Amino acid sequence: MFLVFPDSAAIAAHLSAHLQNIIRQEPNATLGLATGGTMEPVYARFVQDVRASGLDVSGINSFNLDEYVGLSAQHEQSYAYYMQQHLFSQLPFDPARLHLPNGLTTELEQHCKAYSAAIAASGGVALQLLGVGTNGHIGFNEPGTPFDSLTHVVALSERTRLDNSRFFDAMDEVPASAITMGIADILSAREIALVVTGEHKARTMLNYQDGGITPDLPFTALKQHANVQILLDEAAASLLDPSLCQRPVISYAA
Ligand code: GLP
Repeated sequence: MFLVFPDSAAIAAHLSAHLQNIIRQEPNATLGLATGGTMEPVYARFVQDVRASGLDVSGINSFNLDEYVGLSAQHEQSYAYYMQQHLFSQLPFDPARLHLPNGLTTELEQHCKAYSAAIAASGGVALQLLGVGTNGHIGFNEPGTPFDSLTHVVALSERTRLDNSRFFDAMDEVPASAITMGIADILSAREIALVVTGEHKARTMLNYQDGGITPDLPFTALKQHANVQILLDEAAASLLDPSLCQRPVISYAA
């Protein structure tokens, strides 16, 4: 079942309320965090709501999905920079509890192993936020990635580099590789919230609806998970079978 909202602001309000409920129930919860344009309204709304409510976020642990290889946390297109800008610097988090893969490590293999182990050691992810690439990638798990993969280094597909080049000054500045949580790490979360917005993702969603479970479309791995919410705006849902789309009654202020 797909949950369809009028727009990305409504999805953000819904997810912000859900995140706050989790934190109220479990102040030391581990969250799996994502980057990308899709998540910006979600973090903006969460920051606004937490500032208003005064909810304590200092016990929260987080693990980000991915990071570009070769970019430092000071690079404006690194995901570490993104997280600082949109979330971490906005609320009184404990920086020691916030984790991203290190794009500058020289011990790539060791770092990846340690990252997956640290997620498991934190007690596991209570809620994993996810976006999706137009080719169906989650994190940076590109088509063909095995579903049992743990954190690893990936060569980025030309499609993904092209999609993400809008954030860089030139195509040749887009990194060629990245570190990403594996699909098995993602599936180990107790709950997953996939957010998909925009008309350019409508065909990706149609492929999800109509296709089987296949590494050719990595996010179809989510069909194997028992607790996934798929949250779409009207544009991303525009090609889906209406009988599979639910439109939740919205009970919170925009
Ligand atoms: C990026 C990230 C993904 C993200 C996806 C969609 O490459 N690695 O984690 O979900 O692409 O990004 P956007 O939300 O900007 O469409």
